[in-house]
Amino acid sequence: MASGAGSNFEALVLAGRTGSLQAEVVQLIVNNPGCGAQQRAQRLAINCSLLDHRQHPSREALDAAIVAQLEGQDIDLVVMAGWMRIVTPVLIDAYAGRLINIHPSLLPSFKGLDAVVQALRAGVTLAGCSVHLVSEAVDAGEILMQAAVPVLPGDDPTSLSARIQRQEHQLLPAAVALMGERLALQG
Ligand code: GRF
Repeated sequence: MASGAGSNFEALVLAGRTGSLQAEVVQLIVNNPGCGAQQRAQRLAINCSLLDHRQHPSREALDAAIVAQLEGQDIDLVVMAGWMRIVTPVLIDAYAGRLINIHPSLLPSFKGLDAVVQALRAGVTLAGCSVHLVSEAVDAGEILMQAAVPVLPGDDPTSLSARIQRQEHQLLPAAVALMGERLALQG
């Protein structure tokens, strides 16, 4: 699931294709027509569905459409890879323990929007990214994996975001692998 540029989506696809991750991305869902993620899916030949939140009367209705889209596809894990919508129990409960999100901060610090700006404003010297299970409270589910990066003198949101994103592209496939092990253990 992606809303924007889709670089994390592409990192996951490529990790699966190069064999560094034993997983296959079978489906992308986007909510913004023409977004970068949708274009990447086309280039990478990944099936992509547009479920525009503007066409759904509520968050729950959008989530129900997502669940309906994923149904019957033998999907083990659902990844919010830059999904900029708050999700509801309609989706969370349908994929209980199998819905993860990537967030550009060292959670539990700097939840919600503009996490990188929040970190810069707070003056931290260490920033980073987290992959966590999705729960109803935003960015508050169980943390699975994190990566840290330094905040360097002169950093602005663009430079720090770029440094964090390079880590995200490693962290997300690693977290998917971890979830794979976890789900296999659970049977
Ligand atoms: C990432 O920084 C992610 O942490 C946040 O949204 C951004 C998505 O970037 N949730 P991209 O669309 O994967 O390039």
